[in-house]
Amino acid sequence: MKVLITGAAGQLGRALRSSVPDAIGGELVQLITTARQGGNGVRALDLTDAAACRDLVQELRPDWVINAAAYTAVDRAESEPELGWAVNAGAPAVFAEALQGIGGRILQLSTDFVFNGQQGTPYQPSQPVDPLGVYGASKAAGERAVLEKLGGEGRAVVLRTSWVYGPVGKNFLLTMLRLMGEREQLGVVADQVGCPTSTAGLAQACWAVLEHALAGVHHWSDAGAASWYDFAMAIRELALAQGLLQRAAAVRPLTTAEYPTPAQRPSYSLLDCTASRARLQLEPRHWREALAAVLRELPG
Ligand SMILES: NC(=O)c1ccc[n+]([C@@H]2O[C@H](COP(=O)([O-])OP(=O)(O)OC[C@H]3O[C@@H](n4cnc5c(N)ncnc54)[C@H](OP(=O)(O)O)[C@@H]3O)[C@@H](O)[C@H]2O)c1
Repeated sequence: MKVLITGAAGQLGRALRSSVPDAIGGELVQLITTARQGGNGVRALDLTDAAACRDLVQELRPDWVINAAAYTAVDRAESEPELGWAVNAGAPAVFAEALQGIGGRILQLSTDFVFNGQQGTPYQPSQPVDPLGVYGASKAAGERAVLEKLGGEGRAVVLRTSWVYGPVGKNFLLTMLRLMGEREQLGVVADQVGCPTSTAGLAQACWAVLEHALAGVHHWSDAGAASWYDFAMAIRELALAQGLLQRAAAVRPLTTAEYPTPAQRPSYSLLDCTASRARLQLEPRHWREALAAVLRELPG
């Protein structure tokens, strides 16, 4: 089984590369990876280059494309929407169109930020989207594109996830560890609720999606719920306990109004993952357990 992974240098891309199963559905896995900058066996692919994306799929004829590449700078997207749309909506559309004639499938990663966060209970995969910003809107368009082009034949799957972090890359955990070591005090938003999701668990879910040949829209996050403030406090507590920090800044809760950002974010974006867990036969860890495991991987 030939699997093409984009975004191989990103958080999820790296976790996928380090957890490739030997076989999927009884077939040996042949992996091809792409990143914006190629090298070391990774092919160069710029997702804004539609012709290059199409040509690569036509050349390789993969059984699956896992599109883990994305424009993920939520605030910056507000000031460069064309780029966000090209990567998050344009590229998935091109991949899906190229796959139409080949017979392959696509796993399109997406986000809790496709929802407006107003309902106050976990979102079901079937609920209508209503994104608040450019990032969420462009990701929602990427979802639509793959489902329109390949969904009818059950060859597109959208896996929405939330608050992704891992031991490498740009993420809340690593930013907090740095700031907590540098500062005396910091404020973190306490009125936005979601669920942190570790790249290790998410990568496992992605491979299970391929194993079970899922189609349609699905949700995956670690278990539980947290505000960004809760997440920061857990990072502080566990990092001190594990000796990753000798001292840590005091953390105080902020309201969203006290911490204005260019992009508006959903105040409540928990994803209901019940159906996907059953279909994938996977139980996620509680986010605090997953966090402790990621912290143990970090150099002291
Ligand atoms: N991060 C989160 O909190 C979060 C939450 C919910 C859903 N998701 C979704 O989960 C998936 C994986 O996210 P992640 O956290 O692994 O993201 P990430 O660490 O930001 O990785 C995304 C990768 O995409 C690459 N990329 C961006 N623009 C590109 C372009 N024009 N051409 C080629 N590559 C390009 C980036 O390369 P450069 O480093 O060179 O820019 C980066 O390596 C994405 O679909 C994302 O939308 C993420």
